[in-house]
Amino acid sequence: MKTGYRIDFHAHILPGADHGCRNLTMAMEQLQLAKEAEVDVVVATPHFYPHKETLEAFLTRRERTYSQLCEEIKGKDLPKVILGAEVYLCPGLQDLEGLETLCMGQSNTILFEMPREKSKPELFVTLDEVREFRHLNPVMAHIDRYESSDVEKLLAMELPAQLNAVSLCSFWRRRKLLSYVHAGQIFALGTDIHGTEIGYSEFKKAEAVLKEEFWNIMEKTRKLLQLPSC
Ligand SMILES: [Fe+2]
Repeated sequence: MKTGYRIDFHAHILPGADHGCRNLTMAMEQLQLAKEAEVDVVVATPHFYPHKETLEAFLTRRERTYSQLCEEIKGKDLPKVILGAEVYLCPGLQDLEGLETLCMGQSNTILFEMPREKSKPELFVTLDEVREFRHLNPVMAHIDRYESSDVEKLLAMELPAQLNAVSLCSFWRRRKLLSYVHAGQIFALGTDIHGTEIGYSEFKKAEAVLKEEFWNIMEKTRKLLQLPSC
């Protein structure tokens, strides 16, 4: 039974903002798929690579593509789109001026992506300092992708974690991921949609796999985003 908002916490749906969405036509297809999966809210999280571009250049592109999308969806019955970013975690990011502009919606929640290979210790210091000194709430994107030693460290730091729905669809990967869910360590679910192939049908399957835990996670996500209860 539906008890809250279905929230896709991680999606590449801004037209031309990154490699996840080619243009406005694709963005509209992605949102239509979200609607068919009964998703209420999609957080648009274009990639920000601080080692490759300035924050100013990223924000300019994000604003332009978000405005384009908002103009197109105005008055249409589609999920609500909230602005965020998927920030590639780099050492020194705790000192970046304007880091707060990357938070999701009106919240102090910020989504970080780790390297796929084993992380260097300074990245954990960066995360800690973002939390302690910038007073932001870092959420770790798709922890299903990282080295298990990194995952253990992130969870030991009590950082909220997000899972990609597609990983829960894999019988062989599911068991470990469900142990994180049952330990209360998963705060969000994402499609991480790039293109239109993989995403919302997997989100629906993940809902079925998670059973009653699905709505517990959605409620935690709602709080992370500081959305009103429904
Ligand atoms: Fe992503």
